[in-house]
Amino acid sequence: MESTQEIPKLCLAPMVRVCTHPFRLLALRHGADFIYTEEIIDKKLIDVERIVNEDLKTIDYVSNKDKSVVLRISEEEKPKLVCQLGTNNPETVVKAAKIIQNDVHSIDINMGCPEFFSIHAGMGAGLVKLPEKARSILQALTENIDIPISCKIRILPEATDTFEFIKTMQSTGIEHLSIHSRIREELSKGFAHWSIIREVIQNKDITIPIRANGDCFSCNDAVEIKRYTSCDGILIARGACHNPAIFNDIKDHWTTVSHEETKEEPAEDPYQEHKKPLHECGLDKLVEEETKLEEFKPEVKEGMSKNQAKKRAKKMLKKSKKDNSAQNGTDGKQSKTLARIIETRNHGCNKVEILSLCQEYLKIAIEYGNRFGNTKYTLNYMLRTHKKEEEAFQRVNSARNMKEMAKALSVDEFYTEQVAERPVLISYFTDTFYKKKNKLKRQKIEEEE
Ligand SMILES: Cc1cc2nc3c(=O)[nH]c(=O)nc-3n(C[C@H](O)[C@H](O)[C@H](O)COP(=O)(O)O)c2cc1C
Repeated sequence: MESTQEIPKLCLAPMVRVCTHPFRLLALRHGADFIYTEEIIDKKLIDVERIVNEDLKTIDYVSNKDKSVVLRISEEEKPKLVCQLGTNNPETVVKAAKIIQNDVHSIDINMGCPEFFSIHAGMGAGLVKLPEKARSILQALTENIDIPISCKIRILPEATDTFEFIKTMQSTGIEHLSIHSRIREELSKGFAHWSIIREVIQNKDITIPIRANGDCFSCNDAVEIKRYTSCDGILIARGACHNPAIFNDIKDHWTTVSHEETKEEPAEDPYQEHKKPLHECGLDKLVEEETKLEEFKPEVKEGMSKNQAKKRAKKMLKKSKKDNSAQNGTDGKQSKTLARIIETRNHGCNKVEILSLCQEYLKIAIEYGNRFGNTKYTLNYMLRTHKKEEEAFQRVNSARNMKEMAKALSVDEFYTEQVAERPVLISYFTDTFYKKKNKLKRQKIEEEE
């Protein structure tokens, strides 16, 4: 029997370093309806040159400062590409959006990043505590930019504060709003609170489409999130790293789920932790414990010299980065906790063919001259939750250049063919193509002088 529920828009969520050009293409080719870029800070984007790259058939936005590629876009993804910007300023974000608007489908503002550097600068999750600033940013965009605008938020510890914040954002005329249903202090730990997404959608004063985000790791999760919250779309981050084909898997699964089946609560609901009312989740205690971060803000730390405060803040930043990479398995170790959670949720879904997906990803990365460091990082993310692929994970982490990576994943023949056809690819792998080009240009000018 066919499900009568409409399939929500399935989106690849923004992920720093993961959502660069090759991973976005991979997700798109496996059924994602929209693909988000990694967060790009507006200030970085206003200092770029837009270059049509004939070698790669892409548009490259290249930093004027260090000639690195800030964003690479191909024709195939343009109609579905959401560019996520990080900002704390309405003027700079409008400037950045104007630069990019003809090459993307829409623009999203990051109001969810919990990192110290972001909060400290009044960006990311810092913005949900500064509703007037957040409103002015979205208002400036909807008034000055011709493509759809959206934002992605984290929730606040009090449900009523989240409702009020969303209502204020809604008043700016944005197209939709995505909710990562955790508070800032939770980072990506514990269970996402789907209950708050449901409450937001049931709130009669909130009428804009809501995209749900947090803990969608399988077809089963997607069906349950849609059924429970009635969201308009789902943003998938870590679930898409574990299985970049999750989008088509969800679509395949959808028609096999009967309406009756999706309507009834199972006797023992495997999702009960996601559905707990917010006030039962001990968030206040967590907020209290985590105020450490606030405490280390240089301007609020009394009795410290400027230098001492700066040192403290740097130390905090380093620690938060270290904690994050340990938690996410980017420190060369597989992420066992996440692997366990995902395993319990994949029952009945398509088998994840991760090695062939890694090969497919790597081929795109080679073909489009993706930076080696970025390619390795993303492959690490794709493999870190597959306990059975520990060996491949180790091989990927030992590779020191693109040639070794191709060998590690048995696509060396493809690598050799591509590089023989276009030797220039090698300078793209090291992200030195535009640097070298610039150096030659400068030398030529000097010679002429
Ligand atoms: C590696 C990584 C990088 C991320 N980078 C961003 C980002 O650039 N912008 C953003 O809004 N969220 C970012 N996030 C958060 C995700 O978009 C998402 O909100 C979070 O992981 C919860 O969704 P999930 O349970 O599907 O992973 C990142 C998450 C991960 C794991």
